[in-house]
Amino acid sequence: MIVVLDFGGQYNQLITRRIRDFGVYSELHSHKITAEEIKKLNPIGIIFSGGPNSAYKEGSPQCDPAIYDLGIPILGICYGMQLMTQHFGGSVEAASHREYGKALINVQNQSEVFKGLPIEQSVWMSHGDLIVAPPEGFVVDASNPSCPVAAMSNEARNLYGVQFHPEVRHSEFGDELLKNFTFEVCKAKGEWSMENFIEVETEKIREQVGDKHVLCALSGGVDSSVVAVLLHQAIGDQLTCMFIDHGLLRKGEADSVMKTFSEGFNMNVIKIDAAERFLSKLQGVSDPEQKRKIIGNEFIYVFDEESANLKDMDFLAQGTLYTDIIESGTDTAQTIKSHHNVGGLPEDMRFELIEPLKALFKDEVRKVGTELGIPDEIVWRQPFPGPGLGIRVLGEITDEKLEIVRESDAILREEIKKAGLDREIWQYFTALPNMRSVGVMGDARTYDYTVGIRAVTSIDGMTSDWARIPWDVLELISTRIVNEVNHVNRVVYDVTSKPPSTIEWE
Ligand code: XMP
Repeated sequence: MIVVLDFGGQYNQLITRRIRDFGVYSELHSHKITAEEIKKLNPIGIIFSGGPNSAYKEGSPQCDPAIYDLGIPILGICYGMQLMTQHFGGSVEAASHREYGKALINVQNQSEVFKGLPIEQSVWMSHGDLIVAPPEGFVVDASNPSCPVAAMSNEARNLYGVQFHPEVRHSEFGDELLKNFTFEVCKAKGEWSMENFIEVETEKIREQVGDKHVLCALSGGVDSSVVAVLLHQAIGDQLTCMFIDHGLLRKGEADSVMKTFSEGFNMNVIKIDAAERFLSKLQGVSDPEQKRKIIGNEFIYVFDEESANLKDMDFLAQGTLYTDIIESGTDTAQTIKSHHNVGGLPEDMRFELIEPLKALFKDEVRKVGTELGIPDEIVWRQPFPGPGLGIRVLGEITDEKLEIVRESDAILREEIKKAGLDREIWQYFTALPNMRSVGVMGDARTYDYTVGIRAVTSIDGMTSDWARIPWDVLELISTRIVNEVNHVNRVVYDVTSKPPSTIEWE
């Protein structure tokens, strides 16, 4: 494993991502992790990420200095390299010009990380500080006129630093540099695969659960389906799945989930009809964060109560992903939205949690799903958020509004599938902004709701672009929605990417 220490840089997940793509397991950890804790993880290498701070300023994120003495190879990227420089007595200063974007560097010392790479290469820079003097024992590996130390190394101690961002695609040989660090310096074997992941997790689950019982929160989405099948494979009948219909599901969803899992997979699935309970708690609530928290808490309470009627359930399994954890705020990342399976957990929960996917990105989960033999229609199902239509009806939720979203969404899904776009578009749904506008239908004035269509392409949900749905398909969808869904007289298409928007509207 290669551990990436998070100093708050915007590309941090990408570093982990690149290393995993080489077939080497990698995890992102807070920079506050101690040397002792790292030792327990037993990594073959450590990467210090970039970050927005200045290493020389008081209060800037630091790492446990004992990490340098673990004898594990370290690669510092941007802020990470500056931190290393400070620690070993070199000097870091504010640059006279911020360097941002593409830059050419010259490699003058072909240390192990530059092995086999060209002398001149284009890299991606993003920094306001620079190293003016490397620490004693370090050699300058690369430079350019505006950045005298673009890379440095102390090969005797296996310490490397680069000012640029090799994890960003714009760095021409970034992947090769990271590969050199991973395979040449850290001597990784590159044996990590999804098959391997399943084996390791199955073992972990068996060990953690013993002869106890697990309740799995099954939503029918990819994540919880993969968790359920993984657990079923690991512990068989010790698993009970509970599917809560919170009244915020898409059209036809409840029946299809029950059919797939209890009939198709032969699992023990209990369906709880809790629509009234959720909807009454949400009555009069219009703040998005409050809605998310209410739905998240209610989920756990319903589970808690319902499971009390079952055999002793000790564990609760959830399909939490890596992106859910990152976006709910780590030590350095800001809270963007509290995802319901993270931020919404009540403190008095009696279950112990099992979250076997929490280190994976969405596309990795899909690979695990396929490896587990889950059919394509589930593995490739578009993501659906835990709070469901509750965050697609903007503002206060009413039965009428839910019905509009449900019906318009069903039309959208049908037409996207008919047009053969359902694999290409990562996620597509309708949302109901809290607004009405004037229209004219059959010579009469109307004052009715607007439906928004959201359709995005993405790899892992962290970033996305709006999907270029052909005009004629959009036209058909719009016409059908206005004609077939009561109280809708206008349809709009969301043409913003993430960032600056998010995929969901709340
Ligand atoms: P955003 O809106 O944050 O969404 O760009 C990114 C992805 O996450 C899904 N999403 C959620 N999934 N619980 C979930 O399980 C949640 O609370 C939640 N909120 C958003 C969203 O549908 C998109 O795929």
